[in-house]
Amino acid sequence: MLSKRSLVGVRWNFHTLAVLFFMLIGIQAFAADPAVDSSDEAVAAGKTVFNANCKTCHRLDQKLVGPALRGATDRQPADNVKKFIKNSGVVLASGDAYYTKLYKDYNNTAMPAHEFLSDDDLNNLLAYIEFGDKVDPAAAAAAAAGTEGGEVAAAGGIPSEYLTVILVVLVVVLLLILTVLGLIISVLTKYLNKQELDEDDQEFVSQKFNLGKVLKSDGFIIIVTALVVALVAKTAIDGLYSVGVQQGYAPTQPIAYSHKLHAGTLEIECQYCHTGVEIGRSANIPSPNICMNCHTHVQNVQGKEGVSPEIQKIYDAVDNNTPIEWVRVHNLPDLAYFNHSQHVKVGGIECQTCHGPIQEMEVVGQHSALTMGWCIDCHRQTEIATEGNAYYDKLVQIHVDSKDALKVKDIGGLECAKCHY
Ligand code: HEC
Ligand code: HEC
Ligand code: HEC
Ligand code: HEC
Ligand code: HEC
Ligand code: HEC
Repeated sequence: MLSKRSLVGVRWNFHTLAVLFFMLIGIQAFAADPAVDSSDEAVAAGKTVFNANCKTCHRLDQKLVGPALRGATDRQPADNVKKFIKNSGVVLASGDAYYTKLYKDYNNTAMPAHEFLSDDDLNNLLAYIEFGDKVDPAAAAAAAAGTEGGEVAAAGGIPSEYLTVILVVLVVVLLLILTVLGLIISVLTKYLNKQELDEDDQEFVSQKFNLGKVLKSDGFIIIVTALVVALVAKTAIDGLYSVGVQQGYAPTQPIAYSHKLHAGTLEIECQYCHTGVEIGRSANIPSPNICMNCHTHVQNVQGKEGVSPEIQKIYDAVDNNTPIEWVRVHNLPDLAYFNHSQHVKVGGIECQTCHGPIQEMEVVGQHSALTMGWCIDCHRQTEIATEGNAYYDKLVQIHVDSKDALKVKDIGGLECAKCHY
C-alpha cells in the first residue's frame, strides 16, 4: 500500500502547509502588479498594438527573435520596461545592467524604437503582455478533446482499425457456423444410417462431399471468372483516373524548412510568407529576404550553438544572390486556371480546406486530389459568402425565389470557360 506520504515524498505536517500558504500569497502578490491595468479593454487594446508592432519578433510565452515577453514587468519595474519599449537604444546607452546583458544574450540585436506609441498604448501593451492570451489548462484540454471528437465525426463512419477487427470477427463467426453445421451433418448421417432406408435414400445419405466436382461445376467457373474480370477492370480504371494525380506527393526540399515549426509552433501567419493569396492568382513562395527578417538574428534553434547548417543555406542564397530551389508540390496542368484571391479573399475559404493541416506538416505534401472532379464537387456544394459583399446583392435578390441557397454553381462555377482558357 502506498501511503499518502510516500506518494508525494513530502511530510504533510503543519510546517509544509504554512510554507505553501505563504508561497501562494507571494505568487498572488506578484500576479496582481498594481502598476499594470488588468481590465479586458486594456488587454484587447494592447493586443492590437502588439500585433501591429511587436508580433514579428515577440510572442508572450515563447522566444522568437526577442525574448518571451510575459513577466517582463516582474523582471523590471514597469517604468523601465516602458522606456525600453519606447527607445531601447537610450536605455542601453544609459548603461542599464539588466538590459545590457539581455542585449548581449540576443547577439546585440537592436530592438527598433517605438517613439510613436502614446502612454495609453504603452499601458495597454503592458496589460496585454501580463494578462493576454492566458492558456487555461482545463479549457485547452477540453478544446483538444473537442477537436479529436470532431475529427472522428468529420471522417463520417467507422475508423478503419475497427473495420479490420469487425472483419476478423465475422470470419471467425463464419468458421464456427461451418464447424457446427459439419457436426450436425455427421450426427444426422450416423442417425440415418441406423434407420432402415430404401436404396435411393441410402445412397443419398452416404454420398461423400466432392470438392473436385464443385470446382469443375459451371456455376463455380462463371462466378470466379466474373470476379477476376471485375477486379482487373476496377484496377485499370482506378489507374487511368489517377494518371497525373499526385495526391500525397511530398518531395524533400533543399532546406529542411518546417511548417510545423513556423506556422504551427511559432504561429506565423500564412500570408506573412505567401504574400499573394489575397491579391492574386498565385500564393507565392517567399524569397530568402522574408526568411532573413528573422534569420538575421535567429541563427539556430534555441539551445544550440553556432549557425545551423540549414540556416546557413539561407545565408548562402542571399550572399550569392541565388534563389532557393524549392521543389513545387501543387501543380495544375496549364489548361486549368485557378486563382487564390478568388477563393481566399472573396470566397473566404481557409487554406486548410484545400491544403490540409499544413501547420502540422514537417514536410508539405499534396492533401487534395486537385482533379477537375474535386473543383466541381466543391462548387456544387459550397454556398457563396454573400454577406457584406455588395457585388452579390442583386444576385441574392434574384435567387430569393429558389429554395436552395446560392451556391458557386449558380454563379457559373461549372462553366468550362471559367476554369479553362
Ligand atoms: C525587430 C525585432 C523586434 C521588434 C519588432 C520588437 N522587439 Fe522587443 N526585443 C527584441 C530583442 C532582440 C530583444 C532583446 C533585447 C535586445 O536585444 O535589445 C527585445 C526585448 C524586449 C523586451 C525586454 C524583455 C525582457 O525579457 O525583459 C521588451 C519588454 C520588449 N522587447 C517589448 C517589445 C514591444 C512591446 C514591442 C512592440 C511595440 C517590441 N518589443 C518589438 C526585438 C524586437
Ligand atoms: C515562414 C514562411 C512560411 C509560412 C509562415 C508559411 N509557409 Fe507555406 N511555404 C513556405 C516555403 C518556403 C515553402 C516551399 C517549401 C516547402 O514546400 O516546404 C512553402 C510551401 C507551401 C505549400 C506548398 C507549395 C507548393 O509547392 O505547391 C503550401 C500549400 C503552403 N506552403 C501553405 C502554407 C499555409 C497554409 C501556411 C499557413 C498555415 C503557410 N504555408 C505558412 C514558407 C512559409
Ligand atoms: C518570424 C520569424 C521567422 C521567419 C520569417 C522564418 N523563420 Fe525560420 N525560424 C524562426 C525561429 C524563431 C526558429 C528557431 C526555433 C527554435 O528555436 O526552436 C527558426 C528555425 C528555422 C530552422 C531550423 C534550423 C535547425 O537547425 O533546425 C530552419 C531550417 C528555418 N527556420 C528556415 C526558415 C526559412 C527557409 C524561412 C523562410 C522561408 C524562415 N525560416 C523564416 C523564425 C523565423
Ligand atoms: C480552393 C482551394 C484552395 C485554397 C482555399 C487555397 N489554395 Fe493554395 N493552391 C490550390 C491549388 C489548386 C493550387 C495549385 C495551383 C496551380 O498549380 O496553379 C495551390 C497552390 C498553392 C501554393 C503553391 C504556389 C502557387 O501559388 O501555385 C501555395 C504556396 C499555396 N497554394 C498556399 C496557400 C495558402 C497560404 C492558402 C490560404 C491563405 C491557400 N493556398 C488556399 C488550392 C487552394
Ligand atoms: C473548397 C471549395 C472549393 C474548391 C475545392 C474549389 N473552389 Fe473554386 N470556388 C469556390 C467558391 C466558394 C467560389 C466563389 C467565390 C466567390 O464568391 O466569387 C469559387 C469560385 C471559383 C471561380 C470563379 C467562378 C465565377 O463564376 O466567378 C473559378 C474560376 C474557380 N472557383 C476555379 C476553381 C478551380 C480550377 C478549382 C480546382 C483546382 C476550384 N475552383 C476548387 C470554392 C472552391
Ligand atoms: C471548376 C473548374 C473547372 C470547370 C468548371 C471545368 N473544368 Fe475541366 N478541368 C479542371 C481542372 C482543374 C482540370 C485538370 C485536372 C487534372 O489535372 O486532373 C481539368 C481538366 C480537363 C480536361 C483534361 C482532362 C484531363 O484529365 O487532363 C478536359 C478535357 C476538361 N477539363 C474539359 C472540361 C469541360 C468540357 C468543361 C465544361 C463542361 C470543364 N472542363 C469544366 C477544372 C474545371
